[in-house]
Amino acid sequence: MISKSSAPGKVILFGEHAVVYGEPALAMAVDKRCGCEISVSSSRTTVNGHPIREEYHSYILQCLNILEVDNKLKISTESDIPSGAGMGSSAAVSVATIGALRKFLEKGSTEEMIAKDAFNVEFEVQGNASPIDTSTSTHGNAIMVSEKKEKDFLWEIKKDEKSWNIHHRDIPDMDFVIGDTGVHSSTGPLVEKVKKFYRKSNFAREIIQEIGEIVRDGCVLLEEEDLEGVGRLMNKNHRLLSILGVSHPSLEKLIKGARRHSYGAKLTGAGGGGSMIALTDEPNKVAEVIEKKGGTPYVLKSTKKGLTSTNTEEKE
Ligand code: MEV
Repeated sequence: MISKSSAPGKVILFGEHAVVYGEPALAMAVDKRCGCEISVSSSRTTVNGHPIREEYHSYILQCLNILEVDNKLKISTESDIPSGAGMGSSAAVSVATIGALRKFLEKGSTEEMIAKDAFNVEFEVQGNASPIDTSTSTHGNAIMVSEKKEKDFLWEIKKDEKSWNIHHRDIPDMDFVIGDTGVHSSTGPLVEKVKKFYRKSNFAREIIQEIGEIVRDGCVLLEEEDLEGVGRLMNKNHRLLSILGVSHPSLEKLIKGARRHSYGAKLTGAGGGGSMIALTDEPNKVAEVIEKKGGTPYVLKSTKKGLTSTNTEEKE
């Protein structure tokens, strides 16, 4: 038997950083995917033809651990999600691998089971993780994560003292361009920087709340397919993130350039470098500007398609 799966990457549209303080965040699935194929191996477990090794295959190894797999497997993965560009490439690998493994082992494969396993995989490998990436990659379309259970609740993810409620949100077909600044940024120190500001300043706490309101308004405008409104909120969300101190000159340069041909543009993810996202009807023009300004553009569409997985009989 061969089990095959495919899981999308994601981008955060609204709410990064504020989500750390219990405000909601919205992420959507994009049309770049990671595929995984699993069959029985006659000798040892391999990944893309090589023996599985912790230093190269930490996420896949953790998927095998979590599902307590001791069979020898032939695992192949293929991804067109760029890594380190804020598109959830490691989450998609984890979701696709868990999805294929659960099919292969006939262990039950509801979205909730897969999203929870994949979150645990990311948590084990990274030492810290938010469930936004893995839940979006599993469910597709868009997810809103918040402290409370709200309309279209899907599942709750718990870790230690923390808990996140995951909700379905519907989004229209949209064109986006991601611009990778090429400036390396680490999420941990940026979260710490905002935390310091948050602890000592009322102003910072008000900004965080205002970002929460943007997320809620954004969900309504997306449902109404009001792209101009969504773009305006993206610009506003970016302004607030800049005040929190997580923008970067390289992001400002790409965002300013992209806005000439976009409904709106903002940083996506932790900031401090990393990537920006623009909502546009002219993706090629935006991609051209991003390239001219020294960034690497990725033209994307939103997608409703989350994880897919199938079992097929192996041919002789
Ligand atoms: C990073 O992709 C998003 C942050 O909000 C951190 C997190 O939610 O874990 C900055």
